[in-house]
Amino acid sequence: MGFRKVKGFFDLISPEVEKYRFMEDVAKGIFERYGFSEIRTPVVEFTELYTRSIGEETDIVQKEMYSFLDRKGRSLCLRPEATAGVVRAYIENRLFERRKVVKLFSIGPMFRYERPQKGRYRQFHQINVECFGAKSYVADAEMIIMLMEFLKEIGVSDVELQINSLGCSSCRKVYLQKLKEFLDKIDTSSLCEDCRKRKDRNPLRIFDCKKSKCQAIIENAPFVSDFLCDGCRTHFDLLLSTLENVSIPYKINKRLVRGLDYYTKTIFEVVSTKIGAQSAVAGGGRYDYLVSMLGGPDTPAIGFACGMERLAMLLSEVGKKGTDVYILVATDKGTKAALNMAAKLRNEGLCVETDFEGRSIKSSLREANRLDAKVCVIIGEDEVRENLICVKNMKTGVQERVEFDHAIKLIKEVCYGRDKSN
Ligand code: HAM
Repeated sequence: MGFRKVKGFFDLISPEVEKYRFMEDVAKGIFERYGFSEIRTPVVEFTELYTRSIGEETDIVQKEMYSFLDRKGRSLCLRPEATAGVVRAYIENRLFERRKVVKLFSIGPMFRYERPQKGRYRQFHQINVECFGAKSYVADAEMIIMLMEFLKEIGVSDVELQINSLGCSSCRKVYLQKLKEFLDKIDTSSLCEDCRKRKDRNPLRIFDCKKSKCQAIIENAPFVSDFLCDGCRTHFDLLLSTLENVSIPYKINKRLVRGLDYYTKTIFEVVSTKIGAQSAVAGGGRYDYLVSMLGGPDTPAIGFACGMERLAMLLSEVGKKGTDVYILVATDKGTKAALNMAAKLRNEGLCVETDFEGRSIKSSLREANRLDAKVCVIIGEDEVRENLICVKNMKTGVQERVEFDHAIKLIKEVCYGRDKSN
């Protein structure tokens, strides 16, 4: 029996992989126009970085981490998300000394030990964006504007932006007291085992629970956004009116809490109804305490991440540059001319496939057809003897035997659409 891929992991092969390349190219273009630069952090970090930042009681930390001991017994972890690593890098590399506002994006694989299903994998890819040092609601607005622009540019429409505010530490304290009072009144045995623990340790996480009995209970719970302090209320209201001013539709989702502990104030998710139960294609929010909590200076921050697999499901096939020229060589004596020609044409930006396998001309032409090549170049015994090149226009079927330099000219004309016989 051969080897198989690990459950929840997958190979990215054409034509799917072109969608990823396309998303990456569009993302880089847009983010750079907004002043973001790329950061590449390791896929492995110390486990504690994630337990501290994402939070002990979250599903990610409790159930989904790919953590392991290395040969010296240190607990390391495959990154389940990018934010914690980027914050670590921001602090460790003292990026706060470079500029007041530091804007970074990163793209790459993340790992979560979740039960695989459509739109949920154990290795998946995120396009991740973080902005450090800006506390204004305008930074939140700009993040969301940039995210929506990205989605629009890759052709993802029909999505809903959901938004909420979790408040700062002072309004959160008031809210958590209210939530506790509410939970104290309910029959604890009606909660699932996880939520019973969450009730005392981190009651906000009960909102993440997918079990219907817990959702039914939390249905009547007070909402965090109803307890915002004046500062957080104003921040949220100004953000919402800014989104309205730039015509970005949103829906306030008071139940939205996001499954990571580091969030403060604004949180948001973009959901699609077209991809099944795992409907969030992007999510993010403000995390004003995380940098200082991990040992850096007091730095407000906000970011988001898009799930590339879920976005890929919404993209139709992205064309990859097709074959322009197919060169088939029927004799070893033609190899030099063929390689020479391929190099010249590739230098001109054409996509050239070569066939040195000595197949019959018929099967090579079939292959050229299958690749939808515009031109097929045939270098057989006769051509070598007469020092000519046979150029076949695959669309018109017209075939000419000409000298090398003339062949190059002819091929360029056909490929760049200047061929009169076309
Ligand atoms: P998140 O909501 O955990 O946020 O993940 C962001 C996106 O990654 C999700 O909306 C989803 O599209 C995708 N995703 C998550 N888990 C999976 C999975 N198992 N399979 C496929 N796709 C998945 C974060 O990770 C935060 N770090 C975002 C952020 C950045 N907040 C601030 N800055």
